[in-house]
Amino acid sequence: MKYAVIYYSVDGHIKYLSEILAKNLDADLLPIIKERPYPKKGFFKYFIGGMDATFKRNIVLKQPLPDPSSYDVLVLATPVHAGTLCSPIYSFLKQVDMTNKKVYLIAHSRGGDPKRCLQTIKDTVPSLKVLGESSFIESENLDEQKVVEISQFIKDQK
Ligand SMILES: Cc1cc2nc3c(=O)[nH]c(=O)nc-3n(C[C@H](O)[C@H](O)[C@H](O)COP(=O)(O)O)c2cc1C
Repeated sequence: MKYAVIYYSVDGHIKYLSEILAKNLDADLLPIIKERPYPKKGFFKYFIGGMDATFKRNIVLKQPLPDPSSYDVLVLATPVHAGTLCSPIYSFLKQVDMTNKKVYLIAHSRGGDPKRCLQTIKDTVPSLKVLGESSFIESENLDEQKVVEISQFIKDQK
């Protein structure tokens, strides 16, 4: 099976999680990169990212984008922005063909409910075959055991 971990990360928490996941799965690690990155701090960091997410803006991403057709299973790891799916992952889903892809979904937040974020992924590509989903809350120490369990769960899928 060929796996890829596709992620978007502003502050590095999801990047770190994705690196461990990719290592455990022997997967390709594929970041989604915004052509013009969000500000790293201050009011506009949250304002611009929050507005993009709220209004489902299809934004410009660095090319080439990962090609989903090259993989059997994709892990999609995304932050929760303004209570919903972040715009870079939303835009990725709109810009590539994800029809019928097998995916495992991961939402990462600072404590907000991940449900709407995960549901937006499923609503954006209704044909996705969702193998499972998990959520993480930002903390100084990543729950690495949970990441190991997710990796094993994915490997156990046929
Ligand atoms: C634009 C923006 C909006 C956010 N909105 C929320 C939110 O609504 N609820 C929440 O719990 N966390 C929110 N966060 C926090 C991120 O979801 C959280 O910090 C996540 O761990 C970020 O992962 P990263 O470090 O890989 O970027 C937001 C962060 C940003 C930058």
